[in-house]
Amino acid sequence: MLSMLPCTLALLLLITSDAYAAPHPSAEAGVTMNLLRKPHGRRTVEDWGEWARSHREMLIAKYGGTPPDPPSTRKRASGTNLLVNQNADSSYYGSLAVGTPPVSYNVILDTGSSDLWLADSSCSTGCRSVPTFDAASSSSFKNLSQPFDIQYGSGRAIGVLGQDSVQMAGFSVANQVFGVCDQVSSGLLSSPVSGLLGLAWQTIASSGATPFWQTLAGSGTWDTPVMAFQLTRFVNDNSAKTLEPGGTFTMGAVNNSLYTGEIDFQNIPSGQVSYWILPLTSLTVQGAAVTVPTGASAYSAIDTGTTLVGGPSATIAQIYAQIPGSAPGTGNFEGYYTYPCSTTVNVSLAFGGQSWSISPSDFKLTALSNTECLGGFFELTTGGNAPSWIVGDTFLKNVYSVFRFNPPSVGFAQLSSAALAMNGVDGAIPSATIGSAAAVTAAGGSGGRSSSGARTTRVGMWTMLIGVVIVGSGLIL
Ligand SMILES: *[C@@H]1O[C@H](CO)[C@@H](O)[C@H](O)[C@H]1NC(C)=O
Ligand SMILES: *[C@@H]1O[C@H](CO)[C@@H](O)[C@H](O)[C@H]1NC(C)=O
Ligand SMILES: *[C@@H]1O[C@H](CO)[C@@H](O)[C@H](O)[C@H]1NC(C)=O
Repeated sequence: MLSMLPCTLALLLLITSDAYAAPHPSAEAGVTMNLLRKPHGRRTVEDWGEWARSHREMLIAKYGGTPPDPPSTRKRASGTNLLVNQNADSSYYGSLAVGTPPVSYNVILDTGSSDLWLADSSCSTGCRSVPTFDAASSSSFKNLSQPFDIQYGSGRAIGVLGQDSVQMAGFSVANQVFGVCDQVSSGLLSSPVSGLLGLAWQTIASSGATPFWQTLAGSGTWDTPVMAFQLTRFVNDNSAKTLEPGGTFTMGAVNNSLYTGEIDFQNIPSGQVSYWILPLTSLTVQGAAVTVPTGASAYSAIDTGTTLVGGPSATIAQIYAQIPGSAPGTGNFEGYYTYPCSTTVNVSLAFGGQSWSISPSDFKLTALSNTECLGGFFELTTGGNAPSWIVGDTFLKNVYSVFRFNPPSVGFAQLSSAALAMNGVDGAIPSATIGSAAAVTAAGGSGGRSSSGARTTRVGMWTMLIGVVIVGSGLIL
């Protein structure tokens, strides 16, 4: 199985299968097939406790920066990348290809951060059994010899900045700047994922580089300046495998067959283009309204790279106050709440427009015993200018979500029956990108570190570890 191979052999397999192909992201899927058959192990309450504690451990975030540079225009198009759902909705990854010849890598798609990075072949910590990037095997790689360091809610990655061609879903950016990391926090990457693709705005890029998506959106390459997600649900499904079909990520268009009705777009508040921020304007639990803080305290990062929903403790307490028998967690579960598994919990959120309900099966993170369940909303304490709420996959599985470049906004729509029919359905893991067109675009700006991005660490991805038990590992870095 691929995960057991030494990195060099795994990489050799990747190169062999991809050497002359156009972007062909999961060409290694045949090799990883055994992995897909491995059911994830049963987790004890202690395991969940370890996970819960580490999940809350840290959040640092910051806004700032300047608007993006508009790069040159080529051909207009759209493309789709099929996703993989890892560890029962813990995280969602897609695939891209880097270098000459192009080699494919799986990356977490994270709308809560703005840097691309890959584990490097010299990585000694946190990269065991992960396919890694070998700069020496790409004739187009350029080492920028500048340090790269990014901090997430669930860990940290450190390395140097490099530049190479990056391809995804039929699009290519010729000189994309990205981190090549040789130190990665334990548990941040889970094989077969090699890194992360940040899909938020350049203003919060630790590298200072224009994000891959922003180069394409800003260049007029896309038919429509949007990215859209449909995410599948496998949580609480005892037959779910470690890897399952994860839904779709589309760049340059929305897919009309995945949603119904209108897409309800809401603009990012003026001056807040950094994360994909929307103010949370109403929240109901079991049909009853809970008062939510207003102004900046309502700011929510819409974050595909975060598993759950975190918010201010007073509001989280009010949510659970509407659920009889619920209680604050203790010990490792501090900041979380338990509630009776017999209760079907219906929470709805609105961000200035329509209200969107979260399925009770997403609210229920897991059963800790026959009667006691763990809720998917937890207390989040953020400092400085960090958004008060992080709205992750617990919510996003329930909508078709659209991230619009211009005007900067996020839209939600009702999932179609075709999209809903993919939930919980075991299937083959996607093995290739479906791209409707190839387009090559030069990255905007010179790349490298901007003054505003220098040395600052950013948070986006906040814990994607529902199914990944961190047993006493802690953070290495
Ligand atoms: C890039 O260059 C630095 C020295 O400036 C070196 O330490 C590092 O290993 C190089 N990294 C890669 C991926 O080539
Ligand atoms: C839109 O989604 C449907 C359903 O998954 C899929 O069959 C179709 O290929 C998608 N269209 C595009 C252009 O990707
Ligand atoms: C959940 O609550 C929302 C808002 O109160 C309501 O519109 C919706 O019908 C409820 N859903 C269920 C399944 O009860």
